[in-house]
Amino acid sequence: MKPFLSAKKICKAFNHPTTVEVLKAISLDVYPGESVAIMGASGEGKSTLLQILGTLEAPTSGELFIAGKSVSTHASPTLRNKHIGFVFQGFNLLDDYSVLQNVMMPALIAGESIHKNGAAHVRASALLEKVGLTPRAHFATKLLSGGEKQRVALARALCNDPEILLADEPSGNLDHETSSRIHELLLHSVKELNKSLIVVTHDKALAELCDRKLILCDGHLIEG
Ligand SMILES: Nc1ncnc2c1ncn2[C@@H]1O[C@H](COP(=O)(O)OP(=O)(O)OP(=O)(O)O)[C@@H](O)[C@H]1O
Ligand SMILES: [Mg+2]
Repeated sequence: MKPFLSAKKICKAFNHPTTVEVLKAISLDVYPGESVAIMGASGEGKSTLLQILGTLEAPTSGELFIAGKSVSTHASPTLRNKHIGFVFQGFNLLDDYSVLQNVMMPALIAGESIHKNGAAHVRASALLEKVGLTPRAHFATKLLSGGEKQRVALARALCNDPEILLADEPSGNLDHETSSRIHELLLHSVKELNKSLIVVTHDKALAELCDRKLILCDGHLIEG
């Protein structure tokens, strides 16, 4: 089996205001059906790594392969939209749009119709049900609590049925019961639907559920 995502010697340095080498020759293969937890202290570069693996940020050097294709030079928005689902640390939702519209946004970007009872509408509604937010579907997203926004972000990430899910602290704001439900949904996507998952988390319970635990420390990824 080939890895769905393969990172080869990824380095990242920020040069302003002073040079900081955040990632040092990181290599990682993630296979379909595999879940990887990345842990590490604040400021170690976990979000930076996730952004690079998701083609949202370019590495300083190194190469990234997604679905067997090198994406190190031009990250294609189409490739990203089709293959990758993101749950951002800050959610990055469109506050003035409804919850349902936010969840359907990746479908809209992919050129799909978002009409009522169309395929995207049906998928988004089912995802909202799974994250327990059906009663909030038509609320403006800015009216939601932090944990509710987090769940909208997860539903949105799954909307286009991506092969890989990149999630940055997806249960950071949630109570125990809700976070268990979110963990179940994440792991279900991996095991039942054969997706790949890379999840940045401080939550040991979530890390334990993953196939591999890695720790980002001093710019290196080490087995946890
Ligand atoms: N655009 C940038 N320019 C300069 N420095 C940056 C930039 N983005 C991130 N950094 C620095 O890189 C380091 C890693 O940041 P990153 O957000 O990846 O950490 P993190 O591990 O996700 O932390 P947290 O657990 O707090 O979310 C930090 O020291 C940060 O200040
Ligand atoms: Mg972070």
